[in-house]
Amino acid sequence: MSKAHRVAVAVLAASALLVPGAQPAQAGASRQATTGPAATDRSGYHVLTLRRAAPRDLRIGTAAAGGGHHVDQPYPDPFTYDQPYRRVLAHEFNSVSPENQMKWEFIHPERHTYNFGPADAIVKFARRHGQVVRGHTLLWHSQNPAWLQDGQFTKDELRAILKEHIVTVVGHYRGKIQQWDVANEILNENGEYRQENIFIRELGPGIVADAFRWAHQADPKAQLFLNDYGVEWPGAKVDAYEALAKQLLADRVPLRGFASQAHLSTRYGAPDQLAAVLQRFDALGLHTAITELDVRMDLPESGVPTAEQLQTQATYYKTVLDACLAVAGCNSFTIWGFTDKYSWVPVFFPSEGAATVMWDDFGRKPAYYALRNTLAAAHWGR
Ligand code: XIL
Repeated sequence: MSKAHRVAVAVLAASALLVPGAQPAQAGASRQATTGPAATDRSGYHVLTLRRAAPRDLRIGTAAAGGGHHVDQPYPDPFTYDQPYRRVLAHEFNSVSPENQMKWEFIHPERHTYNFGPADAIVKFARRHGQVVRGHTLLWHSQNPAWLQDGQFTKDELRAILKEHIVTVVGHYRGKIQQWDVANEILNENGEYRQENIFIRELGPGIVADAFRWAHQADPKAQLFLNDYGVEWPGAKVDAYEALAKQLLADRVPLRGFASQAHLSTRYGAPDQLAAVLQRFDALGLHTAITELDVRMDLPESGVPTAEQLQTQATYYKTVLDACLAVAGCNSFTIWGFTDKYSWVPVFFPSEGAATVMWDDFGRKPAYYALRNTLAAAHWGR
């Protein structure tokens, strides 16, 4: 075992001793920056959490694990069954995004059947724990039910189906969703509309504006977002989103925000121009957000990241948080799951992993402390 490896394992072992934050933090607990395990009380509970460390004008979120890839894993539905997981979810975060439970295939499994139960449970949990909810998502090319993808619908029918879906789902959660990812991944890397999106292909790009209008009618208070990956660096995709945002605003479409998913890999550099990208949308009067941050890495044969890899990962997480903190209208910062135990990464990116801020047992990685220290040093009204 190399020295670096030993250090990594020692960090892992030390953090494994900590009980996941099971209790509400004490009133008046310190908001000062602290490092590592010192931020626990005598019984080992984490007193300073991400949500407590954050400035009041920034929500700190995570995906609530369930559906999607989880269905094929050898464990029951994480959000519903894993009590220690739920405690950390409640304790550390003040925003929650259903990872799959509001996607078409989940919430609208048959043409005339809606399945609101699992998403309702998340919304209820969020209310109980003082958390806002990010709705995800309404217009996407992926995770659509077979009845929709394979159905033989006329254009008029398809348009009516989309409208009914948006009005029904957004209306069901009216007043309970802070932000909706209305349009998800609608452009490709060249900035062209994705033809895999059945609605865009069949009805044309004008359907995007309609989706925003319908969502706004159903819940006028929800902030409506464009959301995508590959927009962490300037380029054709960002240019196209900027042009689209300008056009939508000129047409008085109720667009309120632009979000970077930020699914990152240490194979590529840290997104050091992200603040400048977000700033371009801030300048249009839009909110901005980080909605799905994770930082995957190539795992060594042992499967255990080296200390150096963990440090690099922490730097990436901090770079993204710093970018959000640097932009006044960046009001929401969400990581795509907080524990490797339930991460989508190893399922979708073979040989990569360890992408979240906690180990399987909820022990904190350097990336967790990098986020918490950065949040604690940030100020309200940036
Ligand atoms: C992922 C989920 O994490 C998985 O559980 C699911 O199997 C596939 O989708 N961009 C998005 C998210 O907008 O909805 C995706 O979530 C990850 C990429």
